Amino acid sequence: MKGISAIILAAGQGRRMRSAMPKVAHAALGKPVAWHVAHAAKAAGVRDMVFVLGFGRDKVLPTVEAFGGKVAIQESQFGTGDAARCGLAELPAGAKEVVVLCGDAPLIGPATIRALLAERRRKGAVAAVLTGVLDDPAGYGRILRNPDGTVARIVEEKDADASIRKIQEVNSGTYAFDRAFLERGLPRLSDVNAQREYYLTDLVLEALAQGQRVVPLAARDEDEVRGINSRRELAEATRILLKRKLGALMDSGVTFVDPDRVYVETEVRIGQDTIVEPGVMLMGATRIGRGVRIQTGCVVEDCVVGDGVHLKPYTVLASSRVRKNAILGPFSHLRPQADIGEGAHIGNFVEVKKSRIGKGSKANHLTYIGDAVVGKKVNVGAGTITCNYDGISKYQTVLGDGVFVGSDTMLVAPVTVGKGALIGAGSTITKNVPPYALALSRSEQKVSEFWVARKKPELLKKAGLPVPSVKPKGEK
Ligand code: UD1
Ligand code: CA
Repeated sequence: MKGISAIILAAGQGRRMRSAMPKVAHAALGKPVAWHVAHAAKAAGVRDMVFVLGFGRDKVLPTVEAFGGKVAIQESQFGTGDAARCGLAELPAGAKEVVVLCGDAPLIGPATIRALLAERRRKGAVAAVLTGVLDDPAGYGRILRNPDGTVARIVEEKDADASIRKIQEVNSGTYAFDRAFLERGLPRLSDVNAQREYYLTDLVLEALAQGQRVVPLAARDEDEVRGINSRRELAEATRILLKRKLGALMDSGVTFVDPDRVYVETEVRIGQDTIVEPGVMLMGATRIGRGVRIQTGCVVEDCVVGDGVHLKPYTVLASSRVRKNAILGPFSHLRPQADIGEGAHIGNFVEVKKSRIGKGSKANHLTYIGDAVVGKKVNVGAGTITCNYDGISKYQTVLGDGVFVGSDTMLVAPVTVGKGALIGAGSTITKNVPPYALALSRSEQKVSEFWVARKKPELLKKAGLPVPSVKPKGEK
C-alpha cells in the first residue's frame, strides 16, 4: 500500500471527559486511545502518520513517537476540517491517498481501514466514509444518502432537525480521501453552522459541487465506529477491547476459567495451555509462557514469566522475571528487577526486590530479599531479612550456592556468605562468612530450673498444670 498516509485528529480536549488530560491520551486497556487508532492504521499498511495535536499535546507525544509519526499543531480547535487542514500540511509529498482517522475512536480495525481504501478506489470516488448503524445514534453526524446510495450530506447532531435525528446511520469520522480533492476542498470549508466550526464533513457538499462522489462503507461491526466522549464511553470501549483480547487469546490456546472476571491489557502475550483463574490482572508488556497457572488475585505488570510457572493466589509482580517452573505465592511480592531462577520457590509474605535468586533456591516464608545475589539451591529460612539500607545508601548481599540460612537471620549488607556455608538461626551476620563455614551470632541461652514453679506458680495454676513442690533456691 505504497503512498498511503494517515492524518489522526487528536487536538481536542474532550470536555465531556472532565479531565486535565486530553481525551485521546486516556488509557483504554492499558494503551492510550490514540495508540489504538494508530496501531490499526499501521496494521492496515499506512506508513506515514501525522498526528494533529493541540490541547495537552505533551501527553500524546509518547504515542506519536511509538509510531514514528509527525506532529501538526492546531493551536485553537476550530473544528475537524481545520484540524485536517493542519495535518495535510505535514504529509509527505508523494502521498496520493489519505486516511483521516478520529483519534478518539479506538475500536477501528485494520481490515476496515483497508476495505475503506478499496471501496473508494473501486467506485472511483473522491472520498469514502465509514458509517455505522447505531441503536442510539445521539451525538453523531447523520448520513443522508442520494437515491443511488452515495452520500448526499453529513449533518451534525447540533445542526439536525427532528427528522434527521431519527436517522440511525452515523458518520464514524474515518475517511479515505483522494489527496488532490482534500487539498482543493479543505480551504473552501465555511464555519457557518451551529458550532461555528469548520466541519470536515462538509467536504461532501464540496464533492457534489465538483460533480464528484462520496461513497459510504458500512462497518460490519458497528462497535468500530464508536468514538469516546465520556468516561462511560471509555469504560465501554475498554470492555469491548478486553473481550476481543481474551477472544484472541482463547483462540490461541489459553484458558480463562471465567473470562468475565479477568483483566488482560493490550500488549500482554500468553503461551498455549496457560490457565488464568478469575480475579487476575495482567498488565503492560507482560509475557507469560506456556503451561503457566495463574491463580486468583495475582497482579502482574511488565513481567516475563517462563513456561510451567505456578503463581499461587495474591501474588504481585512488577518489572520482574520468573524463570520456568518456579512457584510463587500465595502472597508473594516481586518488586522491580527481581529475577527468580528456574524451579525456585518464593512463598508467603516474601518480598524480593532487585535480586537474582538462583535455580532451585527457596525462600518460603516471611522474608525480605533486596539487592541480593542468591546462588543455586540456597535455603533461606523463615524471617530472614537482608538489611540493605542504612538510611542513605543500598548495599548488596551475596549468598553462594548451597548456603543454608537459618530462620530469623539478619544479613547486614554489604555482606557475602560463601558457598556451602551454614548460618545458625537467629543470627545477625555483619561480617563475610567463608565457604563451608558455620556462622552463629546469638547470646548464650540461660536456664533456671523450676524458676516458674518457684516464682510464678499462678501461671501454672491458670494453665491447669500441677505445681511441682520445689525447695527455694539455695536450700539443699
Ligand atoms: C465528529 C464528526 C461527526 C462524527 C463523529 C464521530 C465532524 C464535524 N463531526 O464529531 O460527524 O459522527 O466525529 O466520532 O467532523 N479534533 C481536532 N481539532 C478540532 C476538533 C476536533 O483535532 O478542532 C479531533 C478531536 O480531538 C477528536 C476528533 O477530532 O479526536 C473528533 O472530534 P470531536 O469533537 O469528538 O467530534 P464529534 O463532535 O464527535
Ligand atoms: Ca467524537
